[in-house]
Amino acid sequence: MASNDLKMDNRKETPPAQNLTVIALAAGKGTRMKSPLPKVLHPVAGRPMIEKVIEASKLAGATQIRVVVGHGQNLVRQIIEPMQGVVCYAQDEQLGTAHAVRCARPEDIEGDVVIMNGDHPLIEASDIKDFLRIFRDEKCDLAVVTAEVKNPGEFGRIVRHRGDLMAIVEAKDASAEALKISEINTGIYIAKADVLAEFLPKIKNNNVKKEFYITDLIALCIQDQLRVHAIKATAKVAVGVNNQLELAKATRLVFKRKALRLLEEGVLMIDPRTTYVEETVQIGAGTVLYPNNFIRGRTQIGSFSVIESNCFISDCEIGDSVQVRGGSYLEKSKVQNKAVVGPYARLRPETEIGEEAHVGNFVEMKKTKFGKRSKAGHLTYLGDAEVGEDVNIGCGTITCNYAIDHKKYKTIIGDRVFVGSDTQFVAPIEIGHDAIIGSGSTITKDVPAKALAVARGKQIVKENYAPKSKETEPSE
Ligand code: UD1
Ligand code: CA
Repeated sequence: MASNDLKMDNRKETPPAQNLTVIALAAGKGTRMKSPLPKVLHPVAGRPMIEKVIEASKLAGATQIRVVVGHGQNLVRQIIEPMQGVVCYAQDEQLGTAHAVRCARPEDIEGDVVIMNGDHPLIEASDIKDFLRIFRDEKCDLAVVTAEVKNPGEFGRIVRHRGDLMAIVEAKDASAEALKISEINTGIYIAKADVLAEFLPKIKNNNVKKEFYITDLIALCIQDQLRVHAIKATAKVAVGVNNQLELAKATRLVFKRKALRLLEEGVLMIDPRTTYVEETVQIGAGTVLYPNNFIRGRTQIGSFSVIESNCFISDCEIGDSVQVRGGSYLEKSKVQNKAVVGPYARLRPETEIGEEAHVGNFVEMKKTKFGKRSKAGHLTYLGDAEVGEDVNIGCGTITCNYAIDHKKYKTIIGDRVFVGSDTQFVAPIEIGHDAIIGSGSTITKDVPAKALAVARGKQIVKENYAPKSKETEPSE
């Protein structure tokens, strides 16, 4: 009793007409994907399809997203349950789309409900808002989003009589005549919650697949004189992903959209068709992207930077006027203004490159702070290191950071140190500022500031040592 009263009070507070809940159907197997991964977890431009559906729903104002899960639900839950506003409902047996919606308990919902398959990665918040506006303006009880397509194939067909919506007929149950219809059901519906609660239980499974079809709701509600509308959308936006080819096409489209947005914002691109920037990435005006880059995750790039071809950049913070030269691989790193990285450089997580620093070809850094204007031009590995400002790291320098105790040790190099080529620093080790390391040294002991350290075998020269033989004589 008491909890019931509480519930009633809560209901009074929510404005019923504006309340929006989204039900996303994601319990099916996705057989046509031919992949062990649950269909809705397949990534589109780096993010699982279902995540994109959830995000669009939230941006469109949904207060709750109820996701119906079944096949592979352990994995699906792992990904989406931590997301705010998401609640999963199990559908243990896949008895059809109407049954799936019932599993999400529409009788507990008030206000408007958008129902969609979990495989609509191209849906954007603005699309959902447009559908809702029409639904509300037309005072609908139920609406289905439709699209005209060239190959209607397996889609449910929209049956009209003298232009008026009558029913949806599934391809498997359709007559030859109905199969010719090119207007299809996108699998997106809007309904008043009480309409769902009342009519879903009336749906029967007398069809070829012996499933409870949500599509039968249309004819049922029309027969009952409710206001039912078809909302036409563009095929591109509304059509879901059912196989790998459609997934690849959707991915292509998401990358294209992002590229166009960046171009609008003043980012320069030599070939937007081969520039792969995930939606979550931010890039400042005046930055140039060469072809064939893959820029991922939470990466932020400032203005007037140049990213040459074939770079992979994930979750990085890159400043202004930075040059990332071709073939570089950067993860979870920070590159300050005017620094130059690459060609063929690798920055592993927790690396920070200072202003105007230079990291050249075949240089790898991990968990390393590399100071302002310092240079490591070629063939170097710095791991767990702290390098000061204006340091010169000679070609072939290595920090030996990993010891036989399986622990990593730090190398600390002060400002203005000059490290000759082919040097090894056996960590833990500290080199004072302005010190000089002779090339070819294996440094095992700390070096004080301003000192010279050389640690290499002495050169021995023996004159006329070689045996006299024909081969060694210069030829005439
Ligand atoms: C459905 C529509 C069809 C429409 C098409 C658009 C029905 C009966 N048909 O067909 O008119 O043109 O979408 O893509 O609805 N699901 C569950 N539980 C179930 C069954 C399905 O959660 O018991 C989920 C699936 O995971 C999927 C979605 O519902 O995300 C659609 O199911 P599916 O059986 O693939 O329907 P379609 O054949 O695509
Ligand atoms: Ca050596």
